[in-house]
Amino acid sequence: MEKQQNIESVLIEKRVFAPPSTFAQQAQLKADALAELQRRAAADHVGFWAGLARQHIAWHKPFTRALDESKAPNYRWFVDGELSVSANCLDRHLVERGNKTAIVFEGEPGDTRSLSYRALHAEVGRLANTLHSLGLQAGDRVVIYLPLVPEAIIAMHACARIGAVHSVVFGGFSALSLKDRIEDTGARLLITADGGWRGGQIVELKSAADKALSLGCPTIEHALVYRRTGQDIAMQAGRDLWWHEAVATQSPDFTAVPVAADHPLFLLYTSGSTGKPKGIQHSSAGYLLNCKLTSEWVFDLRPEDVFWCTADVGWVTGHSYVAYGPLAAGATVMIYEGAPTFPDGGRFWKICERHGVTILYTAPTAIRALMKLGDAIPQSHDLSKIRLLGSVGEPINPEAWIWYHRVIGRERCPIVDTWWQTETGAILISPLPGLTATKPGSCTLPLPGIEVDIVDDAGQSVTQPDAGGYLVVKRPWPSMLQTIWGDNDRYLRTYWQKFQNRYYVAGDSAHRDADGYYWIMGRIDDVLNVAGHRLGTMEIESALVAHPRVAEAAVVGQPHEIKGEAVFAYVVLNGARPVAAASAALSDELRSWVGEQLGAIAKPDTIRFADNLPKTRSGKIMRRLLRAVARNEPITQDLSTLENPAIIEQLRGEAN
Ligand code: PRX
Repeated sequence: MEKQQNIESVLIEKRVFAPPSTFAQQAQLKADALAELQRRAAADHVGFWAGLARQHIAWHKPFTRALDESKAPNYRWFVDGELSVSANCLDRHLVERGNKTAIVFEGEPGDTRSLSYRALHAEVGRLANTLHSLGLQAGDRVVIYLPLVPEAIIAMHACARIGAVHSVVFGGFSALSLKDRIEDTGARLLITADGGWRGGQIVELKSAADKALSLGCPTIEHALVYRRTGQDIAMQAGRDLWWHEAVATQSPDFTAVPVAADHPLFLLYTSGSTGKPKGIQHSSAGYLLNCKLTSEWVFDLRPEDVFWCTADVGWVTGHSYVAYGPLAAGATVMIYEGAPTFPDGGRFWKICERHGVTILYTAPTAIRALMKLGDAIPQSHDLSKIRLLGSVGEPINPEAWIWYHRVIGRERCPIVDTWWQTETGAILISPLPGLTATKPGSCTLPLPGIEVDIVDDAGQSVTQPDAGGYLVVKRPWPSMLQTIWGDNDRYLRTYWQKFQNRYYVAGDSAHRDADGYYWIMGRIDDVLNVAGHRLGTMEIESALVAHPRVAEAAVVGQPHEIKGEAVFAYVVLNGARPVAAASAALSDELRSWVGEQLGAIAKPDTIRFADNLPKTRSGKIMRRLLRAVARNEPITQDLSTLENPAIIEQLRGEAN
């Protein structure tokens, strides 16, 4: 595999930042404790996790078997144990910190609310009683399509409390995407809102939900609707219920239903290289364990912290580091409903100042967007409470890392660049903020108990420093995905087949430097990473060809200053290729079409029309060629098998 590093990172790679001494002195995880964790993990991998599971989880029924490998690679952790994830995040804090703030919320219009652990517990109890009264039981699926308001977290925990399996669909996804996900889960209940605020506009959630339900979704019995914006919406008698009316008569007490350790806590859909999105299925106990541990190890959470992970609950980061991990660790979680730059570029920093945020965890795309607005905006805010910064979702370019360190962290906060995936459930590779020296652009070293490696095509460990290969995980870990919902064959094929079930294949390429530090190079499959979100090229291509005028489409990624990657689509029409104004109008139409089919995030930035696509004589689209053209790179591959060499000029946009 070739090394995909740019000159910039090669030059800056040499910089090393030791943990700031003031941080290191007070960090909770000390060098001797880390050494002990590493020693125990090396001596007895399964026993290591079993010990932590006993220590960190409140079990309803303790487990006696730590790992069931009988159906490997469908590993099952702590199998005969029983617990409630909701009780582990809420009930267990009531005595010691019932009045402590669990959630601080700021809405985009500026409204704020905060809920103590006791208040959150009561709201979750009311909703759990409501779900119960609607006949929902353990194992039933509930789809959640809400803005980022406390009710999103309340809904997730109410599901967990009764043992129902939630599947959160990001509010930016379209009605059609919502419908596909509801149908795949077979959900009985949809929890949604009239709308939410984003960029000063209302996101019309209920009307999108109505459209989704009108197109199919036969398993849905009710839609529970939270009133957020107050705008007029249609309510369908018999099916739709207002949240506030439904919970009004319910008791705040609901005894959490214990479930088996491997009972599914949630399904979360993510893009793959082929076919429809995959419903990644996570367990209860193993998932919770890694979320709680990483919240404590990586974010050094302590009682006085205000932890702000800026992700929406529609993504895995919003599950593990908003709804579950920090609450299991008893922290105060900050959530913000709206756009990072509304009404101006100072919004993020105003929130940090106003609510005394101490730990900020965000994505490189947001960092780059805010960096572009200049230093003066963050410098005019009091960010002195911030003590730790985090990054997730894509490789952070050294320039953005240095800006984050200098302008936001004021050179006194460590940065944790955390590598993980929807499938891994929790952070696997990351600096420990009081202990690990960091290098801009590297997620550094695997956490204790996590055995990652870089291997070549034959599955052999790549030992030579800086040589690239496949990033793999060599031993099962508790928060690993359980399967793909309804398609275990796809689970086996996607993550295990390549190396005969020996290693979990992450789908990323990476290299390791002479210090053993990991540097993620990008995806090895046809998955784009747009603004930190995974998009399958196939999904966008299918959406494009569903348009009556499109005959064929190929989608590739193009580097983008802020989003990391932008969507670049080559389109072949039924009929003549449009020119000039007609081409611009049709591009706009196709962009809106993709937005409707999949959601705004998937809209192509560029559409280039061609008479046909470059294919080999065997009919395969030459994607590497298309990528090179989109990136304005020289074409280095062998074109001798190209069926139609004349097409290249057109693809470059040079011929009209
Ligand atoms: O390519 C890696 C990239 O994001 C992918 C996972 O995407 P998703 O499941 O949507 O989860 C995102 C949030 C955990 C990975 O396969 N990625 C994630 N974190 C990093 C990263 N690439 C480089 N550095 C990271 N810190």
